[in-house]
Amino acid sequence: MTTGSLSRAARRRWWWTLWTLLAVSALGIAGFAVPPYLTGNPADSNVPIDADVAWHYLSLGIHAVPAGLALVLGPFQFVSRLRVRRPRLHRVAGRIYMICILIAAAAAVFAAAATLGGLAVQVAFYLLVAAWLYTAAKAYRHIRRGEVQLHRIWMIRNYALTFAAVTLRSYLLIGVVLKKTLFPSIDFDELYTACVWASILGNVLVTEYLIVQKTLAPLARRRPGGRPATGNGEPAIGARPALDAP
Ligand code: HEM
Repeated sequence: MTTGSLSRAARRRWWWTLWTLLAVSALGIAGFAVPPYLTGNPADSNVPIDADVAWHYLSLGIHAVPAGLALVLGPFQFVSRLRVRRPRLHRVAGRIYMICILIAAAAAVFAAAATLGGLAVQVAFYLLVAAWLYTAAKAYRHIRRGEVQLHRIWMIRNYALTFAAVTLRSYLLIGVVLKKTLFPSIDFDELYTACVWASILGNVLVTEYLIVQKTLAPLARRRPGGRPATGNGEPAIGARPALDAP
């Protein structure tokens, strides 16, 4: 059964389930991944620290704290009810989210330069930094022009990249379990590289699919002079935006 054939109540339940999963996993990963960089002790780091690079651990801390805050703030920004009832809160949280991304992205450039993960990992992280900043800039520009739908689409893209922090650690966990049980010959560095790339590409592909299916396809099917046809008779772009928690 597709979401198109679901009743309104069932669709609401579906969105809230997805949203809860998103918010809980974001909170869980932020709570698990960030604290090792608050102790000031490089030995607590979850990734190997290059002893020859004095600022390596510091760059991870300056990156992880604002990135963790952005990860946790993100899901709340997609709740329509919150946005409609507390527009000022949405704006303030949005600005904090953007500032967090700017700081985290700048620090990530240094963290990527020092990573012991190898060239393929560095390239992935540099592309991620560029895409993170670009999508944030697009989202900001659209909202300054009052283009709410375009702002929403670019924020969805941006948060999908932020959420790569969750998928990366989930894939790594699965990979490590598989290595310990079924495939002991897997090299950890190769596993790490594969997980970094898979987390970015997977999130981008799923997000683009959702954007096309839920937002662009109904627009493309729009009849001249009529309301957008979604297949279930509801407007696709309207008071309750697609891809939103209600
Ligand atoms: C989406 C853009 C992001 C980029 C480009 C990025 C980049 C990086 C880079 C280059 C490293 C060093 C990895 C290594 O040495 O192999 C790193 C580590 C880290 N990042 Fe990010 N990151 C991003 C998002 C996030 C988010 C949203 C969080 C939120 C929790 C986060 C938390 C961390 C933490 C805690 C580390 C230290 C490694 C660990 O303990 O897992 N990052 N990141």
